[in-house]
Amino acid sequence: MRKVSILVFMVAALLASSAMAEGEKKTHEFVGVKKCKTCHKAQFKSWGETPHAKAFDVLSDAEKKDEKCIACHTSGTTTKGVLSEGVQCEACHGGGKDYKSAKIMSKKKWKADPEAHKKMAIEAGLVYPTEETCVRCHTKEGNPNFKPFDFAKMKDLVHPVPAKK
Ligand code: HEC
Ligand code: HEC
Ligand code: HEC
Ligand code: HEC
Repeated sequence: MRKVSILVFMVAALLASSAMAEGEKKTHEFVGVKKCKTCHKAQFKSWGETPHAKAFDVLSDAEKKDEKCIACHTSGTTTKGVLSEGVQCEACHGGGKDYKSAKIMSKKKWKADPEAHKKMAIEAGLVYPTEETCVRCHTKEGNPNFKPFDFAKMKDLVHPVPAKK
């Protein structure tokens, strides 16, 4: 009985998360980490050294094709038909097609009016990650290697860029 209800819950959770990725894709398409890298070199470099960047590589060949695993070991979608391997920028910051444009993410314009540009970016799909962003994957359900998750501590490990603070 208990086993069955856990299974039902897992299937429901998987369906819900894939429906969410579908919704995101429709409204704000993913562009892939290389696009973000062109302007955010420091975050890119720092992120590249974290387990998120390699999250796909830790899976075996069979697991790389297993829906039950790739849900959290990829960014939950494809970029132009190619699976986004690992936990890339957009898994946390939202699909970048609409917010990455120089109209919004221009150094000069952003600096001149940060609040307005932040607002424009959020309207165009940029996410300032909260605990909710993470616990979609950092959850016990379906995660055979679950470790307790402490957002306040963990958020500083995603791409530490000391000079920025
Ligand atoms: C054309 C260059 C460019 C591209 C491409 C770009 N950004 Fe940005 N982004 C900026 C600039 C400039 C800012 C303004 C703040 C700054 O200077 O860091 C910014 C701001 C941000 C912020 C908010 C920072 C803050 O301090 O509030 C986030 C988060 C962000 N970008 C993520 C991304 C992600 C993820 C991608 C890839 C999908 C991306 N950006 C693509 C140039 C770019
Ligand atoms: C619900 C999201 C989720 C799913 C589904 C998931 N994982 Fe993970 N996996 C994680 C997270 C998050 C971690 C990091 C550990 C933690 O903080 O919970 C992780 C860690 C791992 C690690 C590294 C373990 C270590 O100690 O370094 C391996 C290997 C792994 N997962 C394999 C798998 C396989 C195989 C599957 C499919 C059967 C799978 N995962 C399904 C979220 C998930
Ligand atoms: C695992 C989730 C996650 C991933 C992946 C991620 N970020 Fe972030 N990002 C965050 C969080 C959380 C913050 C806010 C940190 C804080 O509150 O101090 C942030 C902040 C930022 C900022 C604001 C300035 C800063 O450094 O604090 C920029 C710019 C940014 N991220 C860009 C990127 C880019 C570019 C990538 C990919 C190379 C990326 N992020 C990948 C979670 C993520
Ligand atoms: C798309 C799923 C996904 C999201 C969203 C996600 N993570 Fe992860 N995270 C993973 C996986 C998978 C691993 C394990 C990678 C490995 O060990 O190969 C991981 C590992 C980590 C680690 C390395 C330490 C450990 O437990 O092994 C930290 C720190 C971390 N995540 C923090 C965060 C934070 C903070 C956020 C939200 C801002 C976040 N993650 C969002 C999937 C995700």
